[in-house]
Amino acid sequence: MDLPHEPFDPAQRFPDQFVWGVATSSFQIEGAATAHDRGESIWDRFCRRPGAIADGSDGTVACDHVHRLGGDLDLIASLGVDAYRFSVSWPRVQPAGRGAWSAVGLDFYQRLVDGLLARGVAPYLTLNHWDLPQALQDDGGWATRDTVHRFVDYASGMLRRLGDRVAAVTTHNEPWVIAHLGHETGHFAPGIASRAIAAQVRHHLLLSHGLALQALRADGCRSRLGLVLNLAPVQPATAHAADLARARLEDGRLLRVYMDPLFGRGYPADVSADLGADAPQIEAGDMDVIATPMDFLGVNYYSRTVASAGVPWDVHSSGLPITDMGWEVYPEGLTDLLLRLHRDYPVPPLFVTENGGAFADVLVDGHVHDRDRTNYIASHIAAVGAALGRGVPMAGYMVWSLLDNFEWASGYAKRFGIVHVDYATQRRTLKDSARWYRRFLQHRRAARAASAAAVAAIAVTSET
Ligand code: FCB
Repeated sequence: MDLPHEPFDPAQRFPDQFVWGVATSSFQIEGAATAHDRGESIWDRFCRRPGAIADGSDGTVACDHVHRLGGDLDLIASLGVDAYRFSVSWPRVQPAGRGAWSAVGLDFYQRLVDGLLARGVAPYLTLNHWDLPQALQDDGGWATRDTVHRFVDYASGMLRRLGDRVAAVTTHNEPWVIAHLGHETGHFAPGIASRAIAAQVRHHLLLSHGLALQALRADGCRSRLGLVLNLAPVQPATAHAADLARARLEDGRLLRVYMDPLFGRGYPADVSADLGADAPQIEAGDMDVIATPMDFLGVNYYSRTVASAGVPWDVHSSGLPITDMGWEVYPEGLTDLLLRLHRDYPVPPLFVTENGGAFADVLVDGHVHDRDRTNYIASHIAAVGAALGRGVPMAGYMVWSLLDNFEWASGYAKRFGIVHVDYATQRRTLKDSARWYRRFLQHRRAARAASAAAVAAIAVTSET
């Protein structure tokens, strides 16, 4: 196979314990939406809204992962990854978001976790990758403080059952998406468009994160505990004062409004001033809870953001390659972002928990020659290596995504997988990018083994 140029020596820079993985999420792959006593999620409901999903699709079948668990676990293991990042569908394990648990739903995740461990792959579990039980939404969803407590109960209940076997637990995936796309623009479930509600939702997500960490630690959960944020460097479109000011505010709304309170600094003053009367209600003690120390922070990175106070910035104007999502390929942005996080905050070990690209793949004779995706992944791994080389405490990297899947409001048209899914037959085919990643990991393992052998040889020599 024709491999892209590797801009780095894969044997170098990454420490032996660096974790390499692939990622998915429940609603995007599981299907089996009406199986057993699974409850409805806000994404099931949102998909039925006319015009909400580009191709009118939904998650009823998706990749049919629930019924194909064994084969998919073999697929994951065949790549040679250290870790698999997946999420639990809350309505599958606790259909109404409170009260009764589903024995069948829990059994599925027990088999998933045990199946990973049996194959030597570490489970990285996310509790909330957006598919809130619809029953909780009917009671106000993330806009109400009660949902915070429901989430903490769900987190405790889940980890009491699995916590001894899960390497890492993420409370929420990308609270910005839930708050902003779900409640401010309404482009994602639950489809609400109110800046004030979005700000309250953000506060409740952060609060529930901190309370869940405290509850899990009190329960004796031994997994590493953290949060996953979608972050990007925000650059001004021009050097004009108005664009600079716009970029600063957007940086506040995307990054500082999460990072500042998580690291004990409260909400940034400029973002609060901009919110004015839309600022959230905060109770005494909330900000201390939000600043509960994390064992790791996950960063999902896809591209940079360019801010403009005037005419919206044209993504084609930079001449950079653009993915099928219309996002620039900008690996330097990942290095810049990681350096900035390390410089501005006392960060715990960092993982890139998602990174990858959607490209218009073609399956021909059982092959997908997705050179663009391979280049994307290789260049971003190099960008992580560059950050590591400059002292950022990087702990792992995970490709988004293992499989082509339901890409939210874009439906099935956008393919992010390193494994192709034929939705008519559910046949999985490794794309060239998956083969490249597998070979890259083989090289790393070989280099690791060689250095271990060298260390052992030195030890033997010094003993004799
Ligand atoms: C992230 C989501 C993930 C996937 C990628 C492309 O925002 O966490 O589920 O949709 O984008």
